[in-house]
Amino acid sequence: MNNQRIIFTIFGGTGNLAYNKLFPAFYQLFQEEKFDSNIFFVAIGRREKTNEQYRKEVEDKIKKKNPDYSKRSFDSFKQRIYYYQLDFTNELHYAAFNNFMINLDQAHQTDGNRIYYLATAPTDFPAISAYLDKYCLKGKKGFKRAVFEKPFGYDLESATQINNSISAVFGENNIYRIDHYLGKEMIQNILTIRFTNQIFKAVWNKESIDNVQITVKESNGVEERGGYYDQSGALRDMIQNHLLQILAFIAMEQPRSFETDSIRDEKVKVLNNIKIIPDLKSHENIVFGQYEGYLQEEKVKPHSKTETYVAIKCEIDHPTWEGVPFYLRTGKFLNGKEAEIIIEFKKEVLGEPFGCLAQPNLLVIKIQPEEGIYFRINTKKPRSEKELMPVSMDYCQSCNFIYQSPEAYERLLNDIIAGDSTLFTRWDEVEAAWKIIKHLMSSCTKDDYLVSYEKGSEGPIEAEYLIKATHRKWWNIEDLSNSRFDF
Ligand SMILES: NC(=O)c1ccc[n+]([C@@H]2O[C@H](COP(=O)([O-])OP(=O)(O)OC[C@H]3O[C@@H](n4cnc5c(N)ncnc54)[C@H](OP(=O)(O)O)[C@@H]3O)[C@@H](O)[C@H]2O)c1
Repeated sequence: MNNQRIIFTIFGGTGNLAYNKLFPAFYQLFQEEKFDSNIFFVAIGRREKTNEQYRKEVEDKIKKKNPDYSKRSFDSFKQRIYYYQLDFTNELHYAAFNNFMINLDQAHQTDGNRIYYLATAPTDFPAISAYLDKYCLKGKKGFKRAVFEKPFGYDLESATQINNSISAVFGENNIYRIDHYLGKEMIQNILTIRFTNQIFKAVWNKESIDNVQITVKESNGVEERGGYYDQSGALRDMIQNHLLQILAFIAMEQPRSFETDSIRDEKVKVLNNIKIIPDLKSHENIVFGQYEGYLQEEKVKPHSKTETYVAIKCEIDHPTWEGVPFYLRTGKFLNGKEAEIIIEFKKEVLGEPFGCLAQPNLLVIKIQPEEGIYFRINTKKPRSEKELMPVSMDYCQSCNFIYQSPEAYERLLNDIIAGDSTLFTRWDEVEAAWKIIKHLMSSCTKDDYLVSYEKGSEGPIEAEYLIKATHRKWWNIEDLSNSRFDF
């Protein structure tokens, strides 16, 4: 702990995110004494509540979620939490809010250090930032950081507009755009696996890699978020942020250093070089699907053309990756809840006696639910001269109690407190990703080619055509596990 004292304010403090993700993560960090600094919390909501009422609500959520909850440690944690009633769209409320913050600052000697977390709709970001600027930030000492939840805008234009207004207030270096996927342990592990193992470093290119598959499956539907999702769809909700960020980590060149900006510089080059042929008709480049029954979901428009599934073939316009397809697929109501990256290496052709029998080497980075690494190689089948046998090294990190990974939010919140922005997206990355989505949205006549798929299935059959068009197949993690022979 660096003993800095900070007030951490959450706009949207009575929302789902604050109750179910942020405070449980804060409590866990507090309990494990992992906080990088000495933190006091202010939760903002519109409804009238006392501190005690709010603290009790937080406690009830944590009790249900955290098997390590202890009354004693929560009683100590809760002294740090304050509730403040404010309508954040009403400018008239901010002068009093500023007085409240000044008093709190004096009471806890926080030297003006503030973090503002906007767990609100992105349309509220500009107004809140402007009012904070006018009433709470100008001429104040201490650092001011601002955290913005996903989605960061709804398209390139709205994201640019939001960004212009928030960066004018906080400045890019103090802005933390959260993509909670980047806080997942195995996403952080990608660069370590790639750049600390000569065995992979040397073959990470078009000479050795045949294709890359990035899959994020969800087993649930839109549930109570139909209204939000229907405006968004899988392309904006998942591809624009999580899948393109993963792709950037997989395809980026080795950075000059492992400092935040060097890594981001390399990621943004990948995003700017992604090429997708916006042709839906052939099913060879993009498939948009919608699960059966989606139109009956609450708050979904009766004739909605929103996609709940996307599969895309991307290429990267860079000499390292010439001709290597990167396949992305994600969807709701699929046959599992999992996320993984599969690197398929080119098949080794040895000629007789082995040639036609060789299986490709596969490297699988398992993101969730299991976290780990799987690597498959060929060996000779015992007692046979000709037959090959694929065997695998399968490391399950999440199976090992000692190495239990922290929740993504725990890592990200502590990074914000420590002022480390490596796992947050810089504006030029967000902008590059929105440009890709804009290009696809404007060139694809989705309405004519939206295909349906059964709930609980692998997704639309057309996604099979997409990968088979280049004589490849989707690798499924269950198939690999069933046929494995562990070292
Ligand atoms: N939930 C998640 O797991 C999750 C994950 C990733 C991203 N996000 C994003 O994070 C944002 C918040 O999500 P959420 O699920 O927490 O939403 P939510 O449950 O609907 O909560 C909205 C919050 O905003 C507050 N609010 C709304 N208008 C207000 C106003 N005029 N003045 C003061 N407070 C106001 C609400 O306060 P009241 O109590 O007064 O209504 C409530 O605290 C959304 O943009 C969402 O897309 C959420």
